Amino acid sequence: MEGKVTVPAVRARKGEQKLTMMTAYDAPTAGIADEAGVDMILVGDSVANAVLGYEDTLAITVDMMVHHTAAVSRTKPRALVVADLPWMSYHVSVGEAVHNAGRLIREGGAEAVKLEGGRKRLPVIEAILDAEIPVMGHLGLTPQSVHAMGGYKVQGKAVAAAREMLADAALLTEAGVFSIVVEGVPDVLGQLITKEVSVPTIGIGAGLHTDGQVLVFHDALGLHDGRLPKFVRRYADLRTEAVAALRRFVADVQSGEFPSDDESYHMGEEAAAALFEEDPSSFDVGWPLSW
Ligand code: KIV
Repeated sequence: MEGKVTVPAVRARKGEQKLTMMTAYDAPTAGIADEAGVDMILVGDSVANAVLGYEDTLAITVDMMVHHTAAVSRTKPRALVVADLPWMSYHVSVGEAVHNAGRLIREGGAEAVKLEGGRKRLPVIEAILDAEIPVMGHLGLTPQSVHAMGGYKVQGKAVAAAREMLADAALLTEAGVFSIVVEGVPDVLGQLITKEVSVPTIGIGAGLHTDGQVLVFHDALGLHDGRLPKFVRRYADLRTEAVAALRRFVADVQSGEFPSDDESYHMGEEAAAALFEEDPSSFDVGWPLSW
């Protein structure tokens, strides 16, 4: 896809070319994802686990999402910026939901919002769309429902639950979402939802046959040593590399090899002599300094 990725361009990719989405929560991660050529950057509420040290996503507020979304948007990525509406930002009233979605767009610079849930969320989805804000749906294993689901469990394994999810996907599509994340479902259900709806499905733990795939940046690049779900492919082991690099820093400082002369600022010899009132060559005393 050439040029800025837009909502209509994402929608038009259905059945054409697979879509890619990566989470990012700040300027450097957004820059890396964008340069790699992903179609969409998701400022996910997974910032909770990936960056902020929480066990689940429930602590995340709209203020936090605005903060992280704005950092991503300031990089002016080619990728479409989608921001998550966090838990309790769209559950109390339709008015609050529209207001909060508006904050992610106006203050955060997002170009679309994502929210979790099926038919229960239709009034909120319709109202946000009515405010001209594009909405991405999210079905299956929806992390904001962790307590209601009794943990992070694969959803839609039983026929009745699978049928209900298919119906939810159809209702969300009819309401006007431009895309649906399908998370943590059997691959056949991911395939069936993809076949049944006219908007692109973006899978995460939903098998090969969705219209696109999304991963969490810190999982994909191995930036933490926590347990990973089986659907994550680790494309790099940056944590190991980072630890090794910082160990070299510690060793170089201890041995006096960092900073080198080239990595230091210098003043003229005369000025140095005047400053110390002695021969500058005697300043090369190493560590510990003797004066
Ligand atoms: O917050 C997030 O990272 C997400 C993805 C897992 C889809 O919602």
